[in-house]
Amino acid sequence: MAMGLLRLVSIAFTLVLVSILPLHVSLAGEITSIESVPDLQKLMYVAVDGYPCVRLLNLSGEIGCSNPGINKVVAPIIKLKDVKDLVQPHTILVTADEMEDFFTRVSSDLSFASKIGGVLVESGSNFQQKLKGFSPDKKFPQAQFSPYENVEYKWNSAASSIMWNNYNFPVYLLSESGISAVQEILSKKKMKHGTYTSDVAEFNMVMETTKAGTHNSEACLQEGTCLPLGGYSVWSSIPPISVSSSNNRKPIVLAVASMDSASFFRDKSFGADSPISGLVALLGAVDALSRVDDFSNLKKQLVFLILTGETWGYLGSRRFLHELDLHSDAVAGLSDTPIETVLEIGSVGKGLSGEINTFFAHKTRVSSVTNMTLDALKIAQESLASKNIKILSADTANPGIPPSSLMAFMRKNPQTSAVVLEDFDTKFVNKFYHSHLDDLSNINSSSVVAAASVVARTLYILASDNKDASNSALGSIHVNASFIEELLNCLLACETGLSCNLVKDYISPTNTCPGNYAGVILGEPSSKPYLGYVGDVSRFLWNFLADKTSVQKGNTTSVCSKGVCSKTDEVCIKAESNKEGTCVVSTTRYVPAYSTRLKYNDGAWTILPQNSSDSMGMVDPVWTESNWDTIRVHVYTVQHSAYDNAVLVAGITVTTLAYIGILAAKSIITKALKQD
Ligand SMILES: *[C@@H]1O[C@H](CO)[C@@H](O)[C@H](O)[C@H]1NC(C)=O
Ligand SMILES: *[C@@H]1O[C@H](CO)[C@@H](O)[C@H](O)[C@H]1NC(C)=O
Ligand SMILES: *[C@@H]1O[C@H](CO)[C@@H](O)[C@H](O)[C@H]1NC(C)=O
Ligand SMILES: *[C@@H]1O[C@H](CO)[C@@H](O)[C@H](O)[C@H]1NC(C)=O
Ligand SMILES: *[C@@H]1O[C@H](CO)[C@@H](O)[C@H](O)[C@H]1NC(C)=O
Ligand SMILES: *[C@@H]1O[C@H](CO)[C@@H](O)[C@H](O)[C@H]1NC(C)=O
Repeated sequence: MAMGLLRLVSIAFTLVLVSILPLHVSLAGEITSIESVPDLQKLMYVAVDGYPCVRLLNLSGEIGCSNPGINKVVAPIIKLKDVKDLVQPHTILVTADEMEDFFTRVSSDLSFASKIGGVLVESGSNFQQKLKGFSPDKKFPQAQFSPYENVEYKWNSAASSIMWNNYNFPVYLLSESGISAVQEILSKKKMKHGTYTSDVAEFNMVMETTKAGTHNSEACLQEGTCLPLGGYSVWSSIPPISVSSSNNRKPIVLAVASMDSASFFRDKSFGADSPISGLVALLGAVDALSRVDDFSNLKKQLVFLILTGETWGYLGSRRFLHELDLHSDAVAGLSDTPIETVLEIGSVGKGLSGEINTFFAHKTRVSSVTNMTLDALKIAQESLASKNIKILSADTANPGIPPSSLMAFMRKNPQTSAVVLEDFDTKFVNKFYHSHLDDLSNINSSSVVAAASVVARTLYILASDNKDASNSALGSIHVNASFIEELLNCLLACETGLSCNLVKDYISPTNTCPGNYAGVILGEPSSKPYLGYVGDVSRFLWNFLADKTSVQKGNTTSVCSKGVCSKTDEVCIKAESNKEGTCVVSTTRYVPAYSTRLKYNDGAWTILPQNSSDSMGMVDPVWTESNWDTIRVHVYTVQHSAYDNAVLVAGITVTTLAYIGILAAKSIITKALKQD
């Protein structure tokens, strides 16, 4: 009897459970069949792909984003336009065009900020048309390094400065697949009219500096919870410089570009116009110059310098100039020779207007040497008459040079004669400066090709001292437009990206998507770094420049043994992509890029005291990035506890009724049996 009762109760329970389970699973996604716990998890939690905003620190505080504590954040998702009076923290779904207003409001309205659990940002190329402009950087980026007084000048008219604030909640830019994952879960909710459920986002973006309570660079470096921003710059020369013989050194013509950009979101900092267009133009020029037959008659030494960390306090250029002072190995061959002139290639991706590509030459000062560079640019333009290129001198009413690496050169030596080539005159034409929207579709490759053509011929004119526009050697220098096109796709697209053939010919990239964020400096900074600590783009540039500037082009007979070459003037290239690698004669070197206020000692970073003879070190914020373990975002549907309670009450009721029913049945049966 007792057994029978027990069975009935358990059947009733099972019925209740069965009535709940399918419902529960259907909330989470298409059910096919659930066979294991991981399957169940996959149905319930949807991993969302995207790009995080992370925590950065300086000497006086923090910027960027982090979970507020040491735990995950879970908060229901709501669209910004549906936000009224929130009682509990929510995940706000913000579109790119709402970003500026939203983050400005967060910074000024503390009660609004306290209701934000996390932020998901929805964006895409269509916002470039929709938006008049969006730049999370300042009106005068890095004004504290300016060599002139007028730091109120507005170079960047779309500036909102929102990337320089501190947000105590996670912020995540959704990728295309991330957007569909979130939209799918939200649209399901509409269909269900789900009153008993809510869609939540779970953020795992805990920063170690938050965990450890280290809230500035000095404290976090001491505790080892962060690392300095930086990386490896690369330089190379045509022709190679013999380090052993220091006689016959010619004055240097230095061509400069940068490889790093920034944005609100760490790994979505393409910087297509600023600065990658300039980098690609310089590489296109080096490629064109590499096809010139004879360099022995050049009167000047051509040196190409590609800097990193420029976005975070001109780390690359300042460190390069510092290494020159120190006569270190990283700049061997350069340090005893005067730099006669510097030509920087800045943003050159948006020069096209109508049929004409227009570029502006901004000079550091009036001198015979800057006049010489401006003349060379004019001669180059004339020699390219059929290409519709116009080089103009920048407006003399400008307060000085625009934000560029030349600022570091000027602060180091105010007598520097230098010119920076840009696609703008009095203010940026790039409406998306330092934003995730400065991508491939923001620039026009024909503008980059035009700039590369001018730069290649200008460098040749400067180095050869030949001022004849109809010179046949000059006329034979042609930039390869399809090479520029390919390079832009390698450095600015996530799909093929760094796994394009051009890059794979030189290195084995660790990532496909080129983030173009400077990154952090790992291990001990060195002129011969452990290559695992050098970024993909730096390694590619090193191999590419060594190949293009080598005098033994095409001579593959000398194979490196174990990645090294026996002759001192040789370097081993393509060692990652080919098993053996090739020895070529080239002067190509890495220069570490990190703050001049930092010193690495026995595995730890320390901050050097301020030195008044290093005027840029005095204003250096010394940026560091917090360490973090994992960054993950999931979305899923949860039931409200009210619903769970209702199910429990229903279950108990059914059980009780069943029990009463059994008792009733038992008494009836007993009665019937007795009557028999
Ligand atoms: C350092 O970060 C703080 C934010 O905590 C900011 O107010 C300050 O301007 C930053 N310093 C520099 C030089 O950028
Ligand atoms: C440079 O050129 C400008 C205008 O072309 C001229 O006025 C100036 O005297 C020149 N300066 C030098 C030092 O040659
Ligand atoms: C680049 O310019 C050419 C010529 O004006 C134009 O046909 C093309 O659409 C432009 N491309 C982009 C991406 O703007
Ligand atoms: C131009 O570049 C393309 C693409 O990188 C390459 O296939 C072609 O061989 C190059 N042409 C010359 C003349 O170097
Ligand atoms: C190629 O390398 C071999 C062996 O190192 C050398 O004998 C030859 O002269 C080189 N050829 C050229 C064109 O440099
Ligand atoms: C300050 O910098 C100058 C020039 O780089 C250097 O010679 C000097 O030793 C530095 N002083 C200190 C205290 O580090």
